[in-house]
Amino acid sequence: MSINPPSNRLWWKEPIHGIELTWIIVAFLWGLFMFFFMIAWHFIGNQNLSTETYRINPDQFVEKVEAFADEFQLLDASGEPVDIGGIPVVSPPAGGDVYMLGRLWEWWPALELKKDQSYRFHLSSADWQHGFSLQPVNINISVHPGYEHILTLTPTETGEYGVVCNEYCGIGHHMMTGIIRVVD
Ligand code: CUA
Repeated sequence: MSINPPSNRLWWKEPIHGIELTWIIVAFLWGLFMFFFMIAWHFIGNQNLSTETYRINPDQFVEKVEAFADEFQLLDASGEPVDIGGIPVVSPPAGGDVYMLGRLWEWWPALELKKDQSYRFHLSSADWQHGFSLQPVNINISVHPGYEHILTLTPTETGEYGVVCNEYCGIGHHMMTGIIRVVD
């Protein structure tokens, strides 16, 4: 027994006030609207990316990326392979498949793409969950081992884009960066 018992013992058992019920309905309808609008964001506002996702064995993906990097390694005027800090720069033919691998703690390889050309961009992880974040355009994709994302990528501006990891992945997370260069 409390010191000041409520006068109405069933104080919680009252009908919902009209205003409160109105707001519950408004919030529910807004939630539904935003839920279905996720589809619309694929078409307007350039927001949600329309990716295809497939299951893949991480080791197989690593093999595919390494074969891709070997085949299209960029060479300098004297025929030497070009790299940035030990990461090979790969220059695939316009319109083709492009691979990028996230692993502890790098985005591999560096890519050189042509402006206004479309590529099939394949993205996965070898080991851990990473976050692909393309800067400064702020495109974000969650990257999991065992799942391959494929999206159509058409760079519209030349320049050097950075890839940072935005999913905490251990001691080297803050150093996990990559490069996509777009040239004419
Ligand atoms: Cu990879 Cu954080």
